[in-house]
Amino acid sequence: MPELKKKIKFIIDRFSMIYEFWCDYCNYRRWNYNNPKVVTRAAQESKMLRQTHMIEKGMSLSEPRKGFGQQKIAVLFEMMDQYLKMGYPSDGMPFQDAIIVLNAYVDMQKGLGYENAAMVEKLKTYDTYRIDGLTAGIKYDTRANLMSNIDKPFPEFFYSRHSMRQFESKSINIEDVEKAIKIAQKAPTACNRQASKVYLYKDKATNDALGELIAGNTGFQQEVPNYLVVTADVSAFYDTFERNQVYVEAGLFSMALVEALHYYGIGSCILQNGEYYKKNKKFKEICKNIPENERIILFVATGYYKNEFSYAMSLRKNVEDVFIVK
Ligand SMILES: Cc1cc2nc3c(=O)[nH]c(=O)nc-3n(C[C@H](O)[C@H](O)[C@H](O)COP(=O)(O)O)c2cc1C
Repeated sequence: MPELKKKIKFIIDRFSMIYEFWCDYCNYRRWNYNNPKVVTRAAQESKMLRQTHMIEKGMSLSEPRKGFGQQKIAVLFEMMDQYLKMGYPSDGMPFQDAIIVLNAYVDMQKGLGYENAAMVEKLKTYDTYRIDGLTAGIKYDTRANLMSNIDKPFPEFFYSRHSMRQFESKSINIEDVEKAIKIAQKAPTACNRQASKVYLYKDKATNDALGELIAGNTGFQQEVPNYLVVTADVSAFYDTFERNQVYVEAGLFSMALVEALHYYGIGSCILQNGEYYKKNKKFKEICKNIPENERIILFVATGYYKNEFSYAMSLRKNVEDVFIVK
């Protein structure tokens, strides 16, 4: 290509990149659920699911706090009332999940010697909407029972992985992680570019510093022996239309990774990386050697399963709500 043509193409590409990122910005600004104009059923349900998850997550810790989350529950009640006021269906999974988890919370708190009479009364007002037969909240389990699923047919194995927020205190064995990563490498990867990487830090000081800065580990930070840092290399991609491929790549890779860790008896919990520029700089400082061209996509809290533990059941939506055939 003659030099001039090359230069013109380069300039057009740069403008096209600005335009596409601008469109991303406009779309996200318009449709993220913090925008009061967003009143879709999906947005209301996502808010409720997230709020409910905060409660089930608090219940799934090794030592749930007596009376935790009262403020969060008050907000969840507001969301539920708002949802009904908007005329959305009470028999949908998110609304039912909220009712069931809150009832499980009341039972658990009674066991801890805590009861908020006003909250219990308010919760009773939703009894008329409750559908029998659904279970949600937390489940108590044993390592032996959980691991009995690893040689079972795929669906049973797959259903037996749960995000863990309780771990044995010993560090994870590097050989076990390596075996799991070898499996995760079989995840689909855009044009076989294999842009994902995993960083593990053997020293306690780095893991503790990561634990301090990560946002989603509140309440179980002290139990995490090791974090895995999953990155994807931006320089593996070449054009504006590939700008989100780092997330797709590392997302698929991480999915395979947590399943493989489970296979080798390592519990895990994916933790979001709050995408703020300054915070990411701090993460990079803690992680010392992660090059600038690699983006930290997420963290994985890892540790061996305890002999006895509990986990959040995190009920799923009905398949009809996520599989649309037209
Ligand atoms: C992208 C992503 C970010 C997540 N971030 C957090 C987090 O910050 N803290 C946490 O405790 N769990 C986090 N999770 C775990 C989810 O809460 C969990 O996958 C969900 O509730 C479903 O439960 P399950 O994994 O046990 O099936 C995250 C999961 C994903 C996929």
